Amino acid sequence: MTSNRRTFAIISHPDAGKTTLTEKLLLQGGAIHQAGAVKARGEARRARSDWMKIEQQRGISVTSSVMTFEKQYDGETITFNLLDTPGHEDFSEDTYRTLTAVDSAIMVIDAAKGIEPQTRKLFEVCRLRNVPIITFVNKVDREGRDPFETLDEVADMLALDVSPQMWPIGMGGLFEGLLDFRTEEVARVEGGSKDYLGKRDALADSSIPENYEEEYQLAQAGYPEFDLEAYRNGDLTPVYFGSALKNLGVEELIDAIARYAPPPRPQPAGEEKIGPEYGEVTGFIFKVQANMDPNHRDRIAFMRQVSGTFKRGMKLTPSGLGKPIAVHSPILFFAQDREIADTAEPGDIIGIPNHGTLRVGDTLSEKDTVRFTGLPNFAPEILRRIQLKDPTKTKQLRKALDDLSEEGVIQVFYPEIGGSSIVGVVGQLQLDVLISRLGAEYKVDAALEASPFATARWLKGSDKALRDFERFNQGNLAKDRDGDLVFMAKSPWDVGYQEEKNPELTFSATKER
Ligand code: G4P
Repeated sequence: MTSNRRTFAIISHPDAGKTTLTEKLLLQGGAIHQAGAVKARGEARRARSDWMKIEQQRGISVTSSVMTFEKQYDGETITFNLLDTPGHEDFSEDTYRTLTAVDSAIMVIDAAKGIEPQTRKLFEVCRLRNVPIITFVNKVDREGRDPFETLDEVADMLALDVSPQMWPIGMGGLFEGLLDFRTEEVARVEGGSKDYLGKRDALADSSIPENYEEEYQLAQAGYPEFDLEAYRNGDLTPVYFGSALKNLGVEELIDAIARYAPPPRPQPAGEEKIGPEYGEVTGFIFKVQANMDPNHRDRIAFMRQVSGTFKRGMKLTPSGLGKPIAVHSPILFFAQDREIADTAEPGDIIGIPNHGTLRVGDTLSEKDTVRFTGLPNFAPEILRRIQLKDPTKTKQLRKALDDLSEEGVIQVFYPEIGGSSIVGVVGQLQLDVLISRLGAEYKVDAALEASPFATARWLKGSDKALRDFERFNQGNLAKDRDGDLVFMAKSPWDVGYQEEKNPELTFSATKER
């Protein structure tokens, strides 16, 4: 049995057109019926939740969500699960975690801007996760760079073969349409709707830019042909030039997902891999979001289902808990709605409302014998001390820091000596989100101040080695949320020095959750 699920993420830098593309994908799938719906939904959400003001002010998206839609292919229904990711490099950790839950990704690039230095990190996490990537070079209807330059840049950055699939005929003012390498059809927009001009060799239109035939030949000859296996191995990316705004190239993109993108793939669980056919329902939590609806203080854990057929009401045991919970109200996410899921299949993402029992990295399973691995925390690159403005709110602060570290907004460290907690993040924007959410959701007025630390490392070793180290370095030690020992380093040099001095300990820059 091959699965009809395609679970994928869209990754892009802010402003490249992710929202527009998402909307066009949903329109194609009939999940929404009117342009503007995704944005409207975004705005409604923003209006409800204060911290999302940051998104609005800066025009960025900092939360990732799930959208499901369907499309028919040769009489078969393909179910697409689209996971949105934050478009800012400061949230590349969040993107990384989302990538653990997908089987492939679409990378969106602005044709005029290419790959911007500040978003490299975001794209590079795709390589870290080794998810197959389809590249969409958006906005070809605008004055852009030479398409060959963009291709070479993608190849360079990801150390991948690139294989063009849709090619722009002219760009900017000269933009006339797109040529499909597979069918050799030319599509363009005429008076707002798409118009197929027919095969490329039938083109005898004076408005077609002269050099287009030459460019096409070069693009055909100069790059490898599409190779399914190479793509699925993460060695090759097919490249679709297009325009989300004009809805050109979008249908071909979604066809590519249906046709080429891998169905749900096996997930690492220690030494073994668990595939969709495994004999029980299993899944893992890759994201927790609190307060999606501030009126209800809800907390939703997002589970990527790995195997089995889930049925509503089923009892699953979270690995962190040891006793089963009955999943009575699993949520499926559609473009504009949430629905209670009666069943779900491998590849699906279901939301499980809970009050803190489920944590990122938890495995859920019927028999409690599987443990999925590969969802790390990353060592923070910015560490700040957090100061309460109202000292009577200590309890609320602790609760908030626990919640938000659970969601992955920040990491929290409790120093062995000294009172105030230290928060760690990978990017500055996470700190802005923290302060804003503390105020809006927890009514805690807090400020951040400098801390003497530059980074942190999780410590591992024998009990004795840890105790010895602790004796001499108490001022530089903290516990994380799980009570694990963390070395707080004043500089990267400090880490190297301690590593050398304490060969019996490991100083880890990531921690499995
Ligand atoms: P994002 O989610 O990645 O941040 O990008 P978004 O879709 O919001 O698009 C950013 C801007 O780029 C928008 O313009 C959008 O209309 C425009 N855009 C997206 N795709 C295309 C395309 O294929 N061609 C052209 N020419 N423009 C495109 P804006 O002026 O910032 O917003 P708005 O006034 O359209 O709302």
